[in-house]
Amino acid sequence: MIIAPSLLAADYGHFADECVRVDRSGADWFHLDIMDGNFVPNISFGPAVVAMMRPLTKCFFDVHLMCRRPEILFEAFRDAGAQSLTIHVELGDEVPGLISTIRGMGLGVGLAVNPPTDIEQVKPYAGLVDLILVMTVNPGFGGQKFISECVPKIEAVKRWRDEGGHSYHIQVDGGIGMETAEICAAAGADNFVSGTGLMKAADLSAAVSGMRSRAQAAAGTAAS
Ligand code: DX5
Ligand code: ZN
Repeated sequence: MIIAPSLLAADYGHFADECVRVDRSGADWFHLDIMDGNFVPNISFGPAVVAMMRPLTKCFFDVHLMCRRPEILFEAFRDAGAQSLTIHVELGDEVPGLISTIRGMGLGVGLAVNPPTDIEQVKPYAGLVDLILVMTVNPGFGGQKFISECVPKIEAVKRWRDEGGHSYHIQVDGGIGMETAEICAAAGADNFVSGTGLMKAADLSAAVSGMRSRAQAAAGTAAS
């Protein structure tokens, strides 16, 4: 189980301290939400901020590009220390080329799908990616309510992985707290992004380990 706090929910007045807090929490990955004010109606932060963060932790940098033209940012994020780049299947015909460009740069490749989008649009790429991100809110903002109608998509992605012998991560993002992490783990998720649910916790280490153990238990129950 990978626990990936989203720095979108950090205290921006103390951003470097927040990175250190996440680093020391026992979290596995940093989830870095990049918004362009076009693909989503919000703007977050860019490569210079990620480069500032890089020396503060050895954690894996998982960059989620909610951007209409993500390719213009690939090199800048790689140079800033990103280890995986996730793009959205809603980019349509652009997707195959974007996947191979990221792959050619030696980075992990993620493919995200928004709540209204049919999960079948992701299926042709199942053998080409390292991570499938099932969005459980409409992207753009932290602190939204988990959309439970997305859970069958997690089950579908898990089924494809089992049947196709793939090894991609099944990531969920949006409205993930203790209870919704359990629901997603039981459906097959193994990679949990959480902004508000973790970053606002008084004891981040306890929240990270609590989420990991609850997800593990829920996954075990589902398997048996
Ligand atoms: C939403 C982002 C998320 C966001 C999740 O557009 O992709 O990663 O940070 O925030 P919470 O966990 O607060 O829903
Ligand atoms: Zn995200």
